[in-house]
Amino acid sequence: MAPNVSISFLVVAWVLCIFMHTTNTVNAAGIVAASQSSALDLEAKALLESGWWGNYSNQSSFISHHCNLSGIQCNHGGSVTEIDKGGVYLGDKFRKFNFSSFPNLVRLNLQETGLRGSIPLEISTLSKLTELDLSWNNLTGDLPLSLTNLTQLVEFSIYYNNISGSIPKEMGNLKNLLELDLSSNNFTGLIPSSLVDLTELVYLYLDSNQINGSIPPEIRNLKNLSSLYLGYNRLTGPIPSSLVDLTNLTYLSLSSNQINGSIPPEIGNLKNLRYLSLRNNSLTNSIPLSLSHLTNLVSLNLGSNQINGSIPPEIANLKNLSYLSLHNNSLTGSIPLSLVDLTNLVYLFLDSNQINGSIPPEIGNLKNLSYLNLSNNNLTGSIPLTLSHLTELTYLYLDSNQISGSIPVEIANCSSLVNLSLSHNYLTSSIPSQFSDLKFLRSIDLSYNNLIGNIPPYLININFNLSYNSLEGQIPTFFQNHSFYTFIGNKDLCGDIKGFPPCLPSSRTKRQLKIVVLLTIFPTLLLLGYFFYSRYWVRKKQSELRGIKNGDLFSIWNYDGKIAYEDIIEATEDFDIRYCIGTGGYGSVYKAELPSGKVIALKKLHRLEAEDPTFDKSFKNEVKMLTEIRHRNIVKLHGYCLHKRCMFLVYEYMERGSLFCVLSNDVEAMELDWTKRVNIIKGIAHAISYMHHECIPVIVHRDISSNNILLNSKLEAFVSDFGTAKLLDPDSSNQTLVVGTYGYIAPELAYTMVVTEKCDVYSFGMVVLEILMGIHPGELLTSLSSPSSQHVMLNEILDQRLPPPNRLVAHDIFFVATIAFACLRTKPKSRPTMKWVSQEFLSRKKPLANPIMYSFTMAIEESRNLYDGRE
Ligand SMILES: *[C@@H]1O[C@H](CO)[C@@H](O)[C@H](O)[C@H]1NC(C)=O
Ligand SMILES: *[C@@H]1O[C@H](CO)[C@@H](O)[C@H](O)[C@H]1NC(C)=O
Ligand SMILES: *[C@@H]1O[C@H](CO)[C@@H](O)[C@H](O)[C@H]1NC(C)=O
Ligand SMILES: *[C@@H]1O[C@H](CO)[C@@H](O)[C@H](O)[C@H]1NC(C)=O
Ligand SMILES: *[C@@H]1O[C@H](CO)[C@@H](O)[C@H](O)[C@H]1NC(C)=O
Ligand SMILES: *[C@@H]1O[C@H](CO)[C@@H](O)[C@H](O)[C@H]1NC(C)=O
Ligand SMILES: *[C@@H]1O[C@H](CO)[C@@H](O)[C@H](O)[C@H]1NC(C)=O
Ligand SMILES: *[C@@H]1O[C@H](CO)[C@@H](O)[C@H](O)[C@H]1NC(C)=O
Ligand SMILES: *[C@@H]1O[C@H](CO)[C@@H](O)[C@H](O)[C@H]1NC(C)=O
Ligand SMILES: *[C@@H]1O[C@H](CO)[C@@H](O)[C@H](O)[C@H]1NC(C)=O
Repeated sequence: MAPNVSISFLVVAWVLCIFMHTTNTVNAAGIVAASQSSALDLEAKALLESGWWGNYSNQSSFISHHCNLSGIQCNHGGSVTEIDKGGVYLGDKFRKFNFSSFPNLVRLNLQETGLRGSIPLEISTLSKLTELDLSWNNLTGDLPLSLTNLTQLVEFSIYYNNISGSIPKEMGNLKNLLELDLSSNNFTGLIPSSLVDLTELVYLYLDSNQINGSIPPEIRNLKNLSSLYLGYNRLTGPIPSSLVDLTNLTYLSLSSNQINGSIPPEIGNLKNLRYLSLRNNSLTNSIPLSLSHLTNLVSLNLGSNQINGSIPPEIANLKNLSYLSLHNNSLTGSIPLSLVDLTNLVYLFLDSNQINGSIPPEIGNLKNLSYLNLSNNNLTGSIPLTLSHLTELTYLYLDSNQISGSIPVEIANCSSLVNLSLSHNYLTSSIPSQFSDLKFLRSIDLSYNNLIGNIPPYLININFNLSYNSLEGQIPTFFQNHSFYTFIGNKDLCGDIKGFPPCLPSSRTKRQLKIVVLLTIFPTLLLLGYFFYSRYWVRKKQSELRGIKNGDLFSIWNYDGKIAYEDIIEATEDFDIRYCIGTGGYGSVYKAELPSGKVIALKKLHRLEAEDPTFDKSFKNEVKMLTEIRHRNIVKLHGYCLHKRCMFLVYEYMERGSLFCVLSNDVEAMELDWTKRVNIIKGIAHAISYMHHECIPVIVHRDISSNNILLNSKLEAFVSDFGTAKLLDPDSSNQTLVVGTYGYIAPELAYTMVVTEKCDVYSFGMVVLEILMGIHPGELLTSLSSPSSQHVMLNEILDQRLPPPNRLVAHDIFFVATIAFACLRTKPKSRPTMKWVSQEFLSRKKPLANPIMYSFTMAIEESRNLYDGRE
């Protein structure tokens, strides 16, 4: 290979010489050009040999076009000045790069390219480098001293790696640095005092390391500093008062260290601050009044310290505040009335202090408030009715106080409410029935109060805790899967839940029972595959039915013309239990090997329905339609048998059973690696999209869950069980009873009972998270609503039985997760359509930065940009 290369160099050089000659240059110039071009060829050759651009079979073509390669910039003379491979996996090909061949390189971006091992010392030969980005990799070892020879550097980023050791004091040589980002590594030792020589610095990020010692007072030299992040280290000692000379600071974070002493009163000098976090340190004394001079502050976090005294009323000057957290301190006194002037507040956390007095009714002025947490204080008085003005409120925590009076029905006007906690107070009223209007409510905790009256039925599909109150009456039957502890400690509750006495029938409970019976029998009927069109149809077909003899074999679809009823009876020895492979509410599933050798699955339905005369042709028609569905990710229904003695459906057999079973089994779950999981998700999306957008009438499955996704021998996904599917006929009412599997049902179904395609989209979102996590996300979703989960990283919730995904799959996983969050939006309209989801999966996305380190909040944020609710 090598000889070929050099021959082509000569050819190119020679061509260049001829060119130079013919454009009226003297011989001498030709020679200069030739030597220049051979230097250029060296660059091209180094690029070729790096393998970063794949294997080029036509090397001469590569060499003559190297300035046109993706990520390469050359200067006018044709010498390489910029290399940008950000987001492209290089891995160990990194080591093949000949750094010494690029004397003119000014910019090298290798962000997120899968680099590992130590930083190559040769990098220091790039003497003209002004920008070096090695972030989002897995580099280890120390920061090499030779790196500090790159004195032209203006920007140096190496965040999110595993670099250890201390920061060399020679970093102080890099006098031109404007940005230094060493965050999220394993740096130890002190902040070198030489760092304060970097007087041009505008951005300094040292956060998320293990740096100890105190903040050097000389930091005051960094006059141009605009962002200073020192959080998540082991810094001790006080906040140096000299810090307040950095009047250009806009962002200052010292959070999660062990900084002690008081907040310097001079902090009021930092007039440009927009973001200040001193959270999670050991700061004491009171909040300095001068803090109220920081009128540009948008976010102020003093949480988790030992700050005492009361909240200064002057805090009301911080008119731009959108985020205010004073949580987990030792604050006393009452909530200052002036606080309600902070009308831009979206987040207000005053929880876990010793604040007393009552909640000022003027809090209703904070119209933008979305998160309000006053829990774990000494608040008294009643819940102000004005809270009902807070229509943006999603999280309201008033628990663990001494609040008395009733739960105001007006809270039902807080139409965005998702989480409500009023537990551990002295509330005495019934649970307002108006809360059924809170369409987005996902979790409600009313435990440990003195609430009276009955349990409202609208709590279906909501996580709730009603324990330790004075509730009475029947526990609605559809709560029977809830834990005993949800209801424990009440006065007179009865029902079918273990630990409670059965209810004595009274006229009232009889009526309730009737409803309950209807609620349970109807889904069973629907589960059977009975598609309820309208009364008209039923009546019409009833009359047609009379002509059909009871006991007739209605139909059996020919499976390649080879299935006969008798074959099936024979193959299963008349449905002997030995052939049974699963049981559900609808009936049992059998495996049958036909005489032809074909294996099929039989779903034998319960007998009850066969005796129902309305079980008519419409069933047959719908089943027939399902047999006509042709999609590679939908289980094929070959036919059915409807007979007085037995009814069954004939399906394609899926060797690996349900997704749920595979995920529940540690060995099988390991077999389902990340790539397979992503493919399963895509398959399901395509199948549902087909049902929603390519079938006429539209088919809404209504019971998408991991139980109803089957896997074949290659672990490919097939949507199955159309037992509850509803064909959306534009003329028919879409109103129906709630069917589906608890934990996958779209929230709106609980109150509107209107089935749309968006219900399936929601269930799909749940299944996607379940596939990524290995278990149903139920509790996680609720806990994600709490502010403390903002830092839950995506990789922490991924199925831990599998090794972490490599970076390439990680892109897919992050993308799939953001889609899932879009599908799980509470408002059906803002969920994407399955067509859109399916198309997104088909079109390859540009990779994001290292996705797996992203927090959940980021995935949710990202999902906001995905689909704006329009088709
Ligand atoms: C490039 O060539 C090497 C060695 O011939 C081979 O191992 C590698 O798979 C090739 N890469 C591509 C992308 O073709
Ligand atoms: C290589 O590329 C050059 C220029 O692009 C072309 O002239 C030549 O024919 C190619 N050689 C081969 C073997 O394809
Ligand atoms: C590089 O690309 C530009 C435009 O894309 C083109 O004009 C130029 O001729 C190309 N250069 C070479 C050496 O291929
Ligand atoms: C980084 O490298 C270390 C040690 O080489 C390894 O244990 C770890 O799994 C790697 N991390 C990633 C995300 O590749
Ligand atoms: C700070 O920034 C200003 C304007 O951007 C610049 O003129 C000055 O040289 C920088 N350095 C110092 C040390 O002030
Ligand atoms: C502060 O920043 C501004 C630009 O935002 C700059 O013009 C000024 O020079 C900086 N001040 C100092 C003291 O560096
Ligand atoms: C608080 O800071 C300590 C280190 O001082 C850290 O270990 C802990 O994780 C931090 N807690 C939070 C909630 O950030
Ligand atoms: C702060 O902590 C250091 C030890 O890290 C201790 O020596 C010092 O006395 C403390 N200062 C205050 C004001 O508590
Ligand atoms: C707050 O309430 C707790 C428990 O009721 C009590 O021990 C504490 O003294 C109270 N604190 C104040 C400041 O009132
Ligand atoms: C039923 O839902 C379909 C699809 O969402 C819609 O087109 C139709 O208008 C709805 N019908 C009624 C009566 O609401």
